[in-house]
Amino acid sequence: MLPLGSLYRAASPLLFAAIPPESAHGVLMRALRMGAVPACPEPADPALKVTLWGRTFPNPVGLAAGFDKDAAAVGPLLRLGFGFVEAGTVTPRPQAGNPRPRIFRAPGHRAVINRMGFPGGGAGLFKENMTRFLGTKPRPPGVVGVNIGMNKDQADPERDYAALIRTLGPMADYLAVNISSPNTPGLRDLQDPQALKPLLAALLAERAKSCGAHPPPLLVKLSPDIPEDKEANIARTIVEAGVDGLILTNTTLERPPGLPERFAGEKGGLSGAPLRERSTQVIRRFYALTGGRLPIIGVGGVESADDAWGKICAGASLVQVYTGLVYRGPWVAREICAGLAERVRAAGLSSIVDAVGTG
Ligand SMILES: Cc1cc2nc3c(=O)[nH]c(=O)nc-3n(C[C@H](O)[C@H](O)[C@H](O)COP(=O)(O)O)c2cc1C
Repeated sequence: MLPLGSLYRAASPLLFAAIPPESAHGVLMRALRMGAVPACPEPADPALKVTLWGRTFPNPVGLAAGFDKDAAAVGPLLRLGFGFVEAGTVTPRPQAGNPRPRIFRAPGHRAVINRMGFPGGGAGLFKENMTRFLGTKPRPPGVVGVNIGMNKDQADPERDYAALIRTLGPMADYLAVNISSPNTPGLRDLQDPQALKPLLAALLAERAKSCGAHPPPLLVKLSPDIPEDKEANIARTIVEAGVDGLILTNTTLERPPGLPERFAGEKGGLSGAPLRERSTQVIRRFYALTGGRLPIIGVGGVESADDAWGKICAGASLVQVYTGLVYRGPWVAREICAGLAERVRAAGLSSIVDAVGTG
């Protein structure tokens, strides 16, 4: 019998022609929630286990933010073989996001452009869904991060981020502060050290106040479009603030040459294969700038074990996938894990952790 991933890839040209991206996402989410997508039967190879911030990741391959914005299918997604799922971006109040269509595929380039604009049911629905997941027995292994953002009409970003830390921080295995989506006006300006420093101080203070004795680590997710000469200052601001980790990177506004004109002309953030090298270089630079002391989650164009290995060697302790799931299918994590376990052994290592930052 053909493996499920191969079946998906054989059918994907038809699927892509018949179903627009956002509808396909809706179908998959419904199927996951109904239990109609076959789960990953075997646990990951023990050599892939990663322990960070006192959390155990059964493997280093996670689902990136944006796929499960309302935390509606966290359990089924973990059962597909992801070592962790980053739910969100969640905003305090529900909002509709930008008008559709707002996701575009370029299958020949294994790329996606999106301008979603944080549609979602808001913190209330997110909390309900997370509470249901946390009550699941047995709880599937894996870590669940909560990616937080601000509502489009919020003039004071700190208020939204702080409100989300208060309501959702206590149920998060980690918090990801998203200041890098290109589709919310003003959001990426928060990466400027002048804005970033007071924001991080306020959010870390809020975490200390509202998340109890074992607060979740707080990570910051950055854009790949930060000018290189500004990176050192941003890295210093983040380290000095006492942030626990980085997520590198979000989507890019750049349009590398060679993309189909109509696709490249769509407004929004580009993800997938054309982002891969750019995000790996950002990881490499921030790993050096932080002396390897700040754990990095590497994301951007990961769809194979080789891609994941490249980001890990550049300095990522964990990786995430979004667009790779669109083109490789829902079982992409288990395929990447199988390849990563082989790479660990071929390199003569006993754990994936020993490959982090090796070049
Ligand atoms: C349709 C879509 C929606 C996304 N929504 C979010 C989001 O809500 N929050 C976020 O931090 N990143 C979001 N992202 C960015 C991804 O998490 C990831 O950083 C980026 O796509 C690069 O990874 P990839 O090349 O594996 O897709 C989204 C990406 C896509 C394609």
